[in-house]
Amino acid sequence: MKYTQLGNTDLHVSRICFGCWQLSPSFWGEIALEPWQQSVHAAIDHGVNFLDTADAYGDGYAEEQLGILMKRDGLRDKFTIATKFFWKFTEPCGRHPDTTYEYILRACEDSLNRLQTDHIDLYQIHAWDAITRPDEVARAFHKLKSDGKVRYFGVSNLNPEQMDLYRSHFEVSCLQPAYSLLDRGIEARELPYCLNHNIGVINFSPLFRGLLGGKYTADSTIDGTRANGPLFRGEGLRIMVEAIDKAKEIAADHDLTVAQLAMRWTLTNPAITSAIAGVKKPEHIIGTVKAADDVLSQKVWYQVANLFTEAQTRALATKA
Ligand SMILES: NC(=O)c1ccc[n+]([C@@H]2O[C@H](COP(=O)([O-])OP(=O)(O)OC[C@H]3O[C@@H](n4cnc5c(N)ncnc54)[C@H](OP(=O)(O)O)[C@@H]3O)[C@@H](O)[C@H]2O)c1
Repeated sequence: MKYTQLGNTDLHVSRICFGCWQLSPSFWGEIALEPWQQSVHAAIDHGVNFLDTADAYGDGYAEEQLGILMKRDGLRDKFTIATKFFWKFTEPCGRHPDTTYEYILRACEDSLNRLQTDHIDLYQIHAWDAITRPDEVARAFHKLKSDGKVRYFGVSNLNPEQMDLYRSHFEVSCLQPAYSLLDRGIEARELPYCLNHNIGVINFSPLFRGLLGGKYTADSTIDGTRANGPLFRGEGLRIMVEAIDKAKEIAADHDLTVAQLAMRWTLTNPAITSAIAGVKKPEHIIGTVKAADDVLSQKVWYQVANLFTEAQTRALATKA
């Protein structure tokens, strides 16, 4: 496993980060806990020392299960832990964003309790809250930092203007955006901004929520909320599978699986610190870590990028 410094922090993290969103039954369906627990151990065995979760994953369930496992097996010191707040999910009226001073302090306390730890290494705002002033968020952050409950702050799903607003009040150490062969929107603005300001970037959905994992065929029925995406069904899926089959050949030339190729493709971008892999079972993380051993050549990076850009353009033009 390769390690790198996260932005301007003193955190040295593995280039693969273990993502815990899969413990969110409303999106992914129920997953078996025992294989998931084994995958946390497999991650440690393969050198992964970085783990991403959120209070909203399963409305507290992901943090809770992680806390139970870390306590049971004494794993807290094995990981740099990143978690998030933003969605107030305890209201009877349904979830809504909240980044007010009081709420942040309470959300952090709740996360610490669920995770059974006394500090969070990287505490991230899950998304942009249009109605709370950045200086109010900053007040909460300064308090959490001075109380020793949080080491560094990060943001997720924000653009450069939004990061600027926060950065004039507190240090933003990391951005967590979506980035994959099928989601390259951050290449033009967010990634250069982060490089310029030495902000770490940990990209989510590097396999485009599993599509680039290579297990689907044109006839697959992909269940859960993923099925709503145009690339996950009908003609869109058929075109994507065709491209993935071509990518499998390129991957094989480099002794990689297509999942490893897709993951390595994101890690080749110099702005990317660590790619967050979504994990349900040991095979997922074990099958992913090799991606971090090396980067792709310029030629292969563009060859694969062009293959998927062309296929995605065609797939989105069809009526799925
Ligand atoms: N900040 C945010 O807004 C945000 C949003 C989304 C995710 N995240 C974070 O990012 C993490 C990763 O996102 P994601 O779950 O969308 O990531 P992903 O890695 O793109 O997709 C995960 C899926 O890929 C498949 N997979 C995993 N390892 C594989 C392997 N080695 N070979 C083949 N297929 C493999 C599995 O799909 P199957 O289930 O089909 O087998 C798995 O459920 C999440 O867990 C979470 O921590 C953050």
